[in-house]
Amino acid sequence: MIISSNEAIALLQRNEIVAIPTETVYGLAADARSDLAVTKIYERKQRPAFNPLIIHVKNLEQAKELAYFSNSALKLAEFFWTNHLREKPLTIVLPKKNNYNISSLALAGLDTIALRVPKHPIALEILKKCNFPLAAPSANPSKHISPTDVDTVIKGLPEIPVVDGGPCLVGLESTIIDLTGASPTILRPGAVTIEELQSILNCSINLSSSLSAIKAPGMMKRHYAPSLPLRLNANEKHLNEALLGFGQTDLPVTLNLSIQGDLNEAASNLFKYLGQLDNPIYKGIAVMPIPEKGLGMAINDRLKRAAYSK
Ligand code: TXA
Ligand code: MG
Repeated sequence: MIISSNEAIALLQRNEIVAIPTETVYGLAADARSDLAVTKIYERKQRPAFNPLIIHVKNLEQAKELAYFSNSALKLAEFFWTNHLREKPLTIVLPKKNNYNISSLALAGLDTIALRVPKHPIALEILKKCNFPLAAPSANPSKHISPTDVDTVIKGLPEIPVVDGGPCLVGLESTIIDLTGASPTILRPGAVTIEELQSILNCSINLSSSLSAIKAPGMMKRHYAPSLPLRLNANEKHLNEALLGFGQTDLPVTLNLSIQGDLNEAASNLFKYLGQLDNPIYKGIAVMPIPEKGLGMAINDRLKRAAYSK
């Protein structure tokens, strides 16, 4: 059911959960202070309770009430959260403050907190009018593809009210950087690239070996998954396969992430196209190689997880 942002606010104030648009993917939002509301997210998504949620805030000031900001954290937050021209989806993991009552379920009992200021005007409007932080994972059943449009939200979570904010411009979940360890570590690649983070922090940054340990408990090996098997770096199409293309090619592609070879366009199409090709008329989905640079790293990260066999 599609609802207005004012209706969403009224529901959120009553401990209900609603799907809202962000610039990355649609989120399933709840009042982050309310165990009752947050429980509904875990139940509805069938998300393991050890996997904490990102806490969305309206601005840096609100974020500072929730966590201790180091100099590095401030630099990144000021760069990516406070300037309209530079705003990009960055989630920062920091030591949490204890004086603000965020639901410990939302944090899966951790003493760290993942914070993000979304850029989408509807998400910001809702955050400002509610005036409390929102816990919001992607609005899909656990292990399914993150939704980048309203139809996909409704398909995955039919009874959840959703605010229509159009297609998500970024299309991939936010970059997550963990600043609670000895040196900064990227837990999930995204539209903010490692090169950008390095140049702002002026230090080297670790990339958590994305297919290994569960440091971000949600970084499970198989996470962003269509039901069909996925074959990566394909240079040909096998019988009965769908072929997801990238760039100009003579191969018989079923859909092309970006004919121009534009990684931004490819990222914004990735989940939508994987969803469209995840159809039993095919026996698998083959994906052409994506260059491992800039946003291509984030695209390849999601593809590897989707391809990881159960
Ligand atoms: O773009 C996004 O980030 C979207 C939109 C809706 O904002 N949200 C999103 O949330 O992707 P979700 O729940 O699907 O992914 C959150 C990730 C999980 O991998 C989780 O483990 C990690 O963030 N995370 C949350 N809190 C953490 C913490 N304190 N330490 C480490 N990782 C954390
Ligand atoms: Mg998710």
